[in-house]
Amino acid sequence: MPVRIMSVFGTRPEAIKMAPLVKRLESDGEVESIVCVTSQHGSMLEQVMAFFRITPQYDLALMTANQTLNGLASRLLGALDDVLERAKPDRVLVHGDTTTACMAALAAFHRRIPVGHVEAGLRTGNLQQPWPEEMNRRVVDVVSDLMFAPTAGSKANLARESLAGRVIVTGNTVIDALHETTARLDADAALRASLEARMRFVDGKKPLLLVTGHRRESFGSGFQNICAALAELALGDDIQIVYPVHLNPNVRGPVQAALGGMRNVHLIEPLDYVGFVWLMQRASLILTDSGGVQEEAPALGKPVLVMRDVTERPEAVAAGTVRLVGTARESIVEAVRELLRDPQAYGDFARRLNPYGDGHASARIVASLTGRSFDEFAHPGVEANRTASPNAPSRDAPFDAIARV
Ligand code: UD1
Ligand code: UDP
Repeated sequence: MPVRIMSVFGTRPEAIKMAPLVKRLESDGEVESIVCVTSQHGSMLEQVMAFFRITPQYDLALMTANQTLNGLASRLLGALDDVLERAKPDRVLVHGDTTTACMAALAAFHRRIPVGHVEAGLRTGNLQQPWPEEMNRRVVDVVSDLMFAPTAGSKANLARESLAGRVIVTGNTVIDALHETTARLDADAALRASLEARMRFVDGKKPLLLVTGHRRESFGSGFQNICAALAELALGDDIQIVYPVHLNPNVRGPVQAALGGMRNVHLIEPLDYVGFVWLMQRASLILTDSGGVQEEAPALGKPVLVMRDVTERPEAVAAGTVRLVGTARESIVEAVRELLRDPQAYGDFARRLNPYGDGHASARIVASLTGRSFDEFAHPGVEANRTASPNAPSRDAPFDAIARV
């Protein structure tokens, strides 16, 4: 009898990072894959589902405009309970640290259904940053019996918490998604041509600063400072800024008010994943508070400045692939200018190793879920550099082998 595994996710980044895993589960003869999307996000989720061609069996369609955390959480718990009753999965998989992940893990726990946590063990140690995600991921790990940690550092975080579940280091599935996407871009001239047509506003001769930002703890003064920094940078004619603006009204309002209509600033709608990867490939520099972008951009050899005071991705900071610049206007402006005027600093930054994976995280996760060996994937250096980036993972990246059965 195949094992019934239900993957539950609801936001853009969860969908991107779960997509390669869902594809593998769907094609595995030992698994009956069930996908439940909560639609915590609306169109930003649909974009990902369309690109990766995933059709969910259950769609809870829960998003409301400007939703509150408690409103969303309570709707999730009720709706997920109904789905678990109907689908009766043997296991639930959740990803990361969203309200969807936390409530799905809790709903499964309440029904004594085992929970697997993909991207487990990320921590800042500060419940306020990121808020509420640091709480969400801790709760998920408490109720999980399988934790798929992307790095040895995240495994060490889990070990410190004396949790009951088993931890396996797999790499981050976002690198699997990125490899698939860059491969599709390389192979598909029509796709590249359509992206070039869509992005005609990009000036090939000017350095491109790609920006994203959405963290709740930056709402208010944090976003005002970030926008002030971008406005200052855009005043010089030596740079172009492209900013796909997150659909959260708490982000769109201040960004539109501060930067709408400015010369050298292109505020655009959220891009589908392939469009965003295309832009990352062309960016000189990325300024972000996103978790996923901190993991992807180094794999593409792009320097990342993180507009936060802390990060749960210390490996990237230690490896020199990302730098924390906070949300103060001066520090953002200075960090961007320094990197753009100093080719050596830029080169040092962009040539580091990416610590987040080799593109085989999903294979490791499915092997461990089905109790199979993945010798082929135990040595991640073997097929490491599929994006041909100088930032491929090191050959001795410490991913775990799964016990043979
Ligand atoms: C959520 C996650 C955050 C994750 C981020 C990724 C929580 C608490 N937050 O934050 O961890 O990093 O997603 O982007 O789980 N909206 C739309 N259309 C969309 C998506 C959002 O209109 O497709 C608007 C809606 O008004 C919605 C609001 O954005 O109510 C906020 O969405 P929500 O998922 O609650 O928070 P995010 O800030 O997106
Ligand atoms: N991304 C995207 N389109 C965009 C901006 C970002 O597809 O317009 C992708 C990006 O490549 C990354 C993910 O969305 O994989 C990050 O999502 P987000 O910043 O919303 O959430 P976080 O990673 O911070 O949780």
